[in-house]
Amino acid sequence: MILENCFDKGVEQIARKIRLEDFFAIAESEKIPFLNNSEGSLFHLVASQQLDRDILDLFYRVADKARSINKTEQGLLFLRSLLFGKKALLLFPQPSTRTFLSFWDATTILGMDVVDVRDPKTSSEVKGESLSDSIRTNSSYFDIIIMRHPKERAVEEAIWALNKSFRRIPIINAGSGPDQHPTQAILDMYTLYKSFDGQIDGRTIAMVGDLKRGRTVRSLSYLMRNYQDMKLIFVSPPELKMEDDIKDFLNRHNVFYYERDDLEEVVGLADAIYMTRAQDEYGEKGRESVDERFKFKKEYLDLMKEDAILMHPLPKREEIDPEIDNIDDNRIIYWRQPRNGMWIRVALIATIFQKEQEILDYKI
Ligand code: NCD
Repeated sequence: MILENCFDKGVEQIARKIRLEDFFAIAESEKIPFLNNSEGSLFHLVASQQLDRDILDLFYRVADKARSINKTEQGLLFLRSLLFGKKALLLFPQPSTRTFLSFWDATTILGMDVVDVRDPKTSSEVKGESLSDSIRTNSSYFDIIIMRHPKERAVEEAIWALNKSFRRIPIINAGSGPDQHPTQAILDMYTLYKSFDGQIDGRTIAMVGDLKRGRTVRSLSYLMRNYQDMKLIFVSPPELKMEDDIKDFLNRHNVFYYERDDLEEVVGLADAIYMTRAQDEYGEKGRESVDERFKFKKEYLDLMKEDAILMHPLPKREEIDPEIDNIDDNRIIYWRQPRNGMWIRVALIATIFQKEQEILDYKI
């Protein structure tokens, strides 16, 4: 299978000519053909809105299966053979450790060779090269680019540049400024799926903290449209409320939500409590606004439902009482999210390279 240039012909014609502003302006629902391969399957991942329930279910199944395959040496070698000889670039000019390592692990589990560029000063952009030129040059040496960037639309710009080029390789958004973090959202969904034995429909999820600039909660909110009768409770200080673009999306897709400004009021109502930190790297406001009302205190464990879970994308700060870290309670799930993340990234990358069926068919 040749991944390069596999692109729906009609769309390819447009993609080669379209200006960046016009590409940005295409509605999310109409952008999908520009992000898929010629068979209509996922190729570039930039935003959670691209993902439907079928593909999410597929990711969960592939992640579960890859996890169990990896338990024997023979299985491990099988996984390594899947993308052996392919090369991944981790382009991370925005600081990251956990997501970076998670992708590093996921790509090496699949046998890829991995190279990273993390220091923005080492890039030719410092010499005045445009992002699109630099992506196009980088694409010459790799089979996939996994990219985290502080600028909101940088990943989309990179996709635009490669769609125009004659070497179209997939790009995965590993965090685009304060906008989106779709792979975190998939791993969060996978965590809900595993915690609730596959029964996500009808759950109540409280998202707490800096909802305005928290890309994890933004991307996760978009995924909720794929489930029935979900209830979201947005708990934030007034100046860090969830933005209207997300609320409009939820309204359009009939996902019920309401807003509160005190976690204690809702802690007993939620099936999952998703804590976040103030994103103060995007502006001064933040750390002081996320005050006592938005912190998960130890005594809240007694108020939580018996089968509810406490989540956090990490890194965390004072928003969860550190005493909770070492309590033996199955509902404290945030130390398990990173491993779920690594396996869901294995599933995502395998699917982009059309290797998912081989994983599902493997006889253990
Ligand atoms: C998150 C991020 O980078 O947005 N971290 C992560 O990827 N696990 C959350 C955060 O930084 O607060």
